[in-house]
Amino acid sequence: MTEQPKKKLFIKTYGCQMNVYDSERMAEAMGGSGYERTDTAEGADMILLNTCHIREKAAEKVYSELGRLKPLKTLNPDLKIGVAGCVAQAEGEEILARQPIVDMVVGPQSYHRLPELAAGGRAAVLTEFDEDKFAHLPARPSPTRGPAAFLTVQEGCDKFCAFCVVPYTRGAEVSRPVARVIGEAEGLARQGVREITLLGQNVNAYHGADGDATRSLGWLVRRLARIEGIERIRYTTSHPNDMEDDLIAAHGDCPELMPYLHLPVQSGSDRMLKAMNRRHTAESYLALIGRLRAARPDLALSGDFIVGFPGETDADFEDTMSLVRAVHYAQAYSFKYSARPGTPAAERDPVAPDVADARLQTLQALLAEQQAEAQAAMVGRETRVLVEKAGRLPGQLAGKSEHLHAVHFEADLPKGEIARVRIVEAGSHSLRGEAIGG
Ligand code: SAH
Ligand code: SF4
Ligand code: F3S
Repeated sequence: MTEQPKKKLFIKTYGCQMNVYDSERMAEAMGGSGYERTDTAEGADMILLNTCHIREKAAEKVYSELGRLKPLKTLNPDLKIGVAGCVAQAEGEEILARQPIVDMVVGPQSYHRLPELAAGGRAAVLTEFDEDKFAHLPARPSPTRGPAAFLTVQEGCDKFCAFCVVPYTRGAEVSRPVARVIGEAEGLARQGVREITLLGQNVNAYHGADGDATRSLGWLVRRLARIEGIERIRYTTSHPNDMEDDLIAAHGDCPELMPYLHLPVQSGSDRMLKAMNRRHTAESYLALIGRLRAARPDLALSGDFIVGFPGETDADFEDTMSLVRAVHYAQAYSFKYSARPGTPAAERDPVAPDVADARLQTLQALLAEQQAEAQAAMVGRETRVLVEKAGRLPGQLAGKSEHLHAVHFEADLPKGEIARVRIVEAGSHSLRGEAIGG
């Protein structure tokens, strides 16, 4: 008997790491229906766009991509096209009305039902919030995975920042049970994974059930660190208000927890933080950074910033610049405020676009300067690099340092090895190093 040829599934992923993780799980779910992943839309039997709704530009990309896919559907009427992710959740039926080539719309909490949707003949929309989709998904196969993997442990957000769609697209905060997370991490370790990044929209709000007990993220990090083969742990994204004492302490006393933390603050102005409904001040954020650095003096910090939030004055923006100067970020992301339908801030008067543009440029220049300084400070230092892939040049390897710098160096080592490397040169986006023997 000959085997059925595999059908081809192309997934294009937009947005955050949680979408990257979800795309992997969607591909695995469709594996059971005879699909395997492919790198091109051309020739695919099914195309999924795993979308992001965070800013207007991100959401609009979906419709331009669907426009580009239209000829493929004309060529192959059996081609199935699905929209998944946060735009699917936010817009639901509207997507089918705006773009009739779409066969399936599936929100981030219902994609475990993709196989049944794909098997159905008619256009379908699924955007309900299921109790635990992960429990319905197949165990994780993928023997070809690299040594660093994502693992979603928490989803959703109860914070309702005034600008943000995530609480609406991803729903309330839910934590996966401890046993499931440990089981998945052990499976990844058996497949050769050495580094796990725990994911959640508010990952440090993690409170997972463990029998009658509830465990925090700090507890979980220490527990996962004990798994044979797991040598590095990271987590993202965290909220300043959920940074509990045991997690801060873990940065000091759990060697597997890497010295890098993405801790968004959005603004340095208390007036703006209040208007954003962030429920913390610039001072409390700086005090928190102080405590984290006391636990781990070489902690590299990253953050997110929004400029041009409604009502932001020059003085408010100056407060953001002062906060950045005080923290000294190793890396950061900054965005111009984008009004999102359904969020409270969308009702407010906007800042003039040219003013917001100018502020974004000023802030990005300062952040780029700090990033360059952080990279340059690595020169001459020794670090440990997890070998993830071949580098750009022959004989070169590439991977991440403990502080999440991209590093390339020459050596003959297998993927998954953690190499001692001395940094000899800092480029704008990566570091060059030399392997240290032994
Ligand atoms: N849960 C995370 C990340 C949320 S989305 C957190 O709370 O930090 C990632 C980033 O996108 C946010 O930190 C914010 O800086 C930015 N963002 C969210 N909504 C936005 C909007 N309406 N306009 C511009 N940037 C936005
Ligand atoms: Fe959005 Fe705020 Fe929740 Fe982050 S904490 S996901 S910015 S509402
Ligand atoms: Fe975007 Fe949804 Fe992630 S809106 S940033 S894909 S949670």
